[in-house]
Order: sequence, then structure tokens, then C-alpha cells
Amino acid sequence: MQPKVRKAVFPAAGLGTRFLPATKAQPKEMLPIVDKPIIQYGVEEALHSGIQNIIIVTGRGKSAIEDHFDVSFELENLLETRAKKDLLAIVRSISDMINVSYVRQKEALGLGHAVLRALELVGQEPFAVVLADDLIDAETPCLRQLLDVYSFFCSPVLAVMEVPRESISAYGAIDAEPISHNGSHDRVYRIRDLVEKPKPEDAPSNLAIIGRYVLTPEIFDSIQSVTPGSGGEIQLTDALKHLLRSRPIYAVRFEGTRYDAGDKLGFLKATVEYALRRPDLGAPFLDYLKTLKL
Ligand code: G1P
Repeated sequence: MQPKVRKAVFPAAGLGTRFLPATKAQPKEMLPIVDKPIIQYGVEEALHSGIQNIIIVTGRGKSAIEDHFDVSFELENLLETRAKKDLLAIVRSISDMINVSYVRQKEALGLGHAVLRALELVGQEPFAVVLADDLIDAETPCLRQLLDVYSFFCSPVLAVMEVPRESISAYGAIDAEPISHNGSHDRVYRIRDLVEKPKPEDAPSNLAIIGRYVLTPEIFDSIQSVTPGSGGEIQLTDALKHLLRSRPIYAVRFEGTRYDAGDKLGFLKATVEYALRRPDLGAPFLDYLKTLKL
């Protein structure tokens, strides 16, 4: 029997330059979609997928993330004395729900480099990687969809989605053949090749890697074997390509909607759609939107 996936790694050391000046003194992972920081959506997805051990790879200026997942004694005390039970429950649930550890990435040398920083905390077991900027709304959490395929093949599994060919150069792209899995013939693929940020004319397909991975511990050796790639960074995609020589790797075209919350337009779309879906805000927000002369 393959070991259970118990840990999820969240790379969160990036500088957030796309959101300056908002991210000058605040981590981009803490920007809220409605009233919840982006990273908390990812952490909740891991939790709802059965993973409770969260490893956050942080960098300089990211202490707000640690405070967010810690107990806030003063705040809890204040809410308690003011009998704000609902708010108290929300604030408490954040620190109660997970077991979180932190490791520091001193220099932002790429996604592969960030994942390698988690080696000691992950150890020799399979683990998930969640890029919180990729916000995914799905009935079955995206990570759960990947874990279901992982538990069948016991090999690495990546999330992918189709994107317009002209946008593929913003992603890692895969060359893959569809395989039949659990009666489904068009969602699971066996990967033949991967390339990070290809030019549209060189891309092997329009299947883009999205920030959810289930990995096996051999990836750490592969990360250590690759040289800097796209953007001069140690790329996880290159390490996966290296690993592909010795191990099959699978992809799942997940069911759900993905928002690029690391991009201004994607962030706005997510904000509007998440607000519209909120029971407490949806109706009045929709009424307001209808008054806009668009
Ligand atoms: C990273 C990965 C890339 C993937 C993307 C998904 O790139 O390197 O393969 O397609 O996340 O969001 P980044 O967006 O960090 O440049």
C-alpha cells in the first residue's frame, strides 16, 4: 500500500511585484478575496482534501502569514469579552484547523528551489504542492481530484487545464496522451514531455500546468539535478521532466474554475464571483452591480 499524502507545501516567498504597491509591506498571499486571504483558500482546499499538515515556504516580509495561522490571543480575548461568538469561531477555526510549519527560502530562485527548501520537513513521503495564486473553485477540491488519481497510480500527478494557445507561454505545458481511468476517458493523461513557458509555436499542446501537484520524494533529487531554466530559475517543471526518465507522471484535467489571483484582472474576477456566491453578500452585491451603467 502506498503511503498516504499527509503534507502540503505552499511556496509563498515570491515578491509579489505584480501587485505593487499593495505588496510593498504585505505579502501577496494575504491579499483578500472578499474577506479571506488568498492563501487561506488554498489551505482550506488541502484540508478538505484530507491534508492537515501545511508547510509554508516563506521569505523576508512574510510574517503576516505566520501571524494569520497562529492564535491571536488579544483578538480572541476582545471578541470573547464583546460576546462576538461568530467572529470568534471564524478567528479560532483558522489556528485550530491545521498543523503548520514554516521554512525560509532566503532567495527567490524559482519554484523548484522553493519546493526543495521543504525537503527536511517533508522527508521520504509523498506530498502535495499548492500554488495559492491559482485559486480553484470546484465541487470536489482540485487537490482531492489529484489525490484520487495518485492513489491509483502511486506516481506524481499534476493539475492541467486547456488554455488558448497564445497564452501557453505563461505556463508549463505538457505533451500527453489521454488514458482511461475509472470509466473516464478524457480527464487523465500520461505525460510524455513537459516544457516550462514555451513559445506558442513550440508548445507541445495547449494543456497548461496549474498550481496543484502530488509529488513523490524522488522529486528532490531531480530538483538538485537540474540547472536554472526559464527566467534563470530552478524550475519544478524541469525537475519533473528529469523525473520522467525514471517514473511515469500523470496529469488530471480537473473539474472546476481556476482564477489567477496573482494577476490583477484574475484577482478582480475572483473577487466579484466569490462575492456573488456569498449568502450574506450575493444578493445586495448583485443589486448594486445591476445599477452600474455598463
Ligand atoms: C508556475 C509553474 C508553471 C505553472 C504555473 C501555474 O509558474 O512554474 O509551470 O504553469 O505556476 O500557475 P509561475 O506562474 O510561478 O511563473
